[in-house]
Amino acid sequence: MGYQAGWQFLQIPGPSNVPRQVLSAMSNPTIDHRGPEFASLATSLFPRLKSLFGTKHNVVIFPSSGTGAWEAALTNVCSMNDRVVMAETGHFSNLWYDLALSLGFKAEILKGNWGSGADPKVIHRRLQEDAAHSIKAVCVVHNETSTGATTDIRSVRRAIDDAFHPALLIVDTISSLASLPYEHDAWGVDVTVAGSQKGLMLPPGLAFNAFGLKAEEATSKANFPSSYFNWKNMERTESTGQFPYTPATNLLFGLKAALDLLEAEGLQNVFKRHARHGRATRAAVTAWGLEILCQSPLQQSDVLTAVKMPDPFSADALRTDILDRFNMPLGSGLGKLSDKVFRIGHLGYMNDLMMIGAIGGIEIGLAGIGLKLASSGLQAAASALSDRS
Ligand SMILES: Cc1ncc(COP(=O)(O)O)c(C=O)c1O
Repeated sequence: MGYQAGWQFLQIPGPSNVPRQVLSAMSNPTIDHRGPEFASLATSLFPRLKSLFGTKHNVVIFPSSGTGAWEAALTNVCSMNDRVVMAETGHFSNLWYDLALSLGFKAEILKGNWGSGADPKVIHRRLQEDAAHSIKAVCVVHNETSTGATTDIRSVRRAIDDAFHPALLIVDTISSLASLPYEHDAWGVDVTVAGSQKGLMLPPGLAFNAFGLKAEEATSKANFPSSYFNWKNMERTESTGQFPYTPATNLLFGLKAALDLLEAEGLQNVFKRHARHGRATRAAVTAWGLEILCQSPLQQSDVLTAVKMPDPFSADALRTDILDRFNMPLGSGLGKLSDKVFRIGHLGYMNDLMMIGAIGGIEIGLAGIGLKLASSGLQAAASALSDRS
């Protein structure tokens, strides 16, 4: 692909578009991370992050991708050989399971459907069978980025409580934080895992854990070796602004700018905007006569939509065509969905016209590969967007 004028439509489900305000904040000269200016920046971030996670308790920030936050969550609360259970929802739940196995935990995957959220009944049943309470943690992906299916975290919490089981609830919000409503404390989550490159509108490189009292208690008893990701080493960071190692200074400048934007728009409005773009995208896909991978309206994600490619068409060929022609990357099918679905990201720094542009490009691309469309998705999306709620 040669030079193309105009900006790129980055429609993958993260990393998402980084706003100019965030980019320009990150381009400031790096400062002394042991000096007063940095300390004042760092300490100012924690209360704002807590309100984003919906917690009064702890948030820690790591220079890492989201995978590091997965590892941190497990290694801080578990002991060697502890049993952890992952609810299968798609590629990311399964990668988390692989990570737990490779760390040496007794990891178990509760079989699930790639296209649905985690099933609380299956979790409840597994916990009831565990009379010895050998399961230390139940791990759930809030928004499964490979399928576009969300899980109702409150129902998972109820499933654990109704089984009278002490397992911790660990939730991956890597692709939901700051895009979908989320309440760490009110929903009874013990550890929340997050990353910078999706709803937070930052480049990749920061990871987060939020955790409450029950997780802190588990940490004090846990004996799994951990160092770089050890929460205890981060204890004083919130009050002193001093990280135990060199922090990602310029990403933290960006984080402040991103929080400014989210707060200026108002988090509830951010959620409404995501919901509107989710509805518009689903209206377009339905109008085209294509199938959304996640079929349950209650679980369909407002972050991304995975679209099934009808036989004999190749989702990857479509994505390549659209990239070449419009400079618009779309998400690929991951794992067993490779070439079978394409994913439309509608998260982060997006407005209605960006959404219309993306849908328009996909519509032209679909027609261009010879797919007969039932009707205009562009019109359906435009009409969905005219409802401003
Ligand atoms: C839901 C979810 N969990 C975990 C990850 C892994 O995060 P990372 O690639 O930042 O390590 C991703 C990445 O896209 C994700 O979407």
